[in-house]
Amino acid sequence: MAYNGFGKSFVYLSMKIFHSSSELVAHVESVKKLGQSVGFVPTMGALHHGHLSLIESGIKENDITIASIFINPLQFNNENDFINYPQTPDRDSLMLQNAGCDLLYLPIKEELYPPGSIQIFDLHGLDVPMEGRHRPGHFQGMANVVFRFFQIIQPNRAYFGLKDYQQFIIIKNCIAPLFSKLEIKGVHTLRESSGLAMSSRNMRLTDSQKQQASCVYRLLKTQLNQLGEKKVGVLTKEIEAAFKAWEELRLEYVDFAEENTLAPWKEKGDPKQFRIFIAFYAGETRLIDNLGFGELSLY
Ligand code: PAF
Repeated sequence: MAYNGFGKSFVYLSMKIFHSSSELVAHVESVKKLGQSVGFVPTMGALHHGHLSLIESGIKENDITIASIFINPLQFNNENDFINYPQTPDRDSLMLQNAGCDLLYLPIKEELYPPGSIQIFDLHGLDVPMEGRHRPGHFQGMANVVFRFFQIIQPNRAYFGLKDYQQFIIIKNCIAPLFSKLEIKGVHTLRESSGLAMSSRNMRLTDSQKQQASCVYRLLKTQLNQLGEKKVGVLTKEIEAAFKAWEELRLEYVDFAEENTLAPWKEKGDPKQFRIFIAFYAGETRLIDNLGFGELSLY
């Protein structure tokens, strides 16, 4: 028994921590031999409640849940962003433990990427728009690490937050089909009461940046609701005008894209199949968000 770090109560700390991939493979094999299912939640650490909701889904739907923490250098197109990525390892493992996660995998970089293991994946063009336009190489780097995790862990189900919707669609359509019987689950974005999407990067925001970044969600909601009624050019201009009034924020892009193909809205079709996607800076911190009609009633 041990102190849980948050209050006076005590909890059993039973989460296993593995660094070595061969030990992890052996453990997963023994679990699967018992006919048990494995859920997997990959993360880059600096955990928040959004991550915990992925763990919660994993626990509900599987016999054991594995989380990983690895800040994947391949998916950062900006070295400063990589160097400054928040790291809170002790807090993270305590949070996972208290959430009921069974196993934490902290991979050794050389084992994750043995010589010759890095590949170019066919991402079906889903990596071209939006984040792909602004973060060259990001999705290939992400695809490589997720592929290696799937290869090592062989999970039955893997969980991804819909805040990174483009990432979710790429994994579901291009990486998961390379593994048999792997189910990819998208989990709704968790938001602060202000509407701000939870993100590890939020811990870098000042109070006024946070306050202004929180207004973006309401703007996304309003603009998405008008898709099909107003021309996309008009909606975009209104968004640009709103950003001009927030001196702490700088808009990078806003796009309306179909939720399976990510094809841009061309003033025809059913707007309900489309999502609004945005990237912006709050000071030096880059944030992304997106919203679909199915989520309008959630907050
Ligand atoms: O979404 C993330 O945190 C990362 O892109 C992931 C899926 C853990 C891969 O590094």
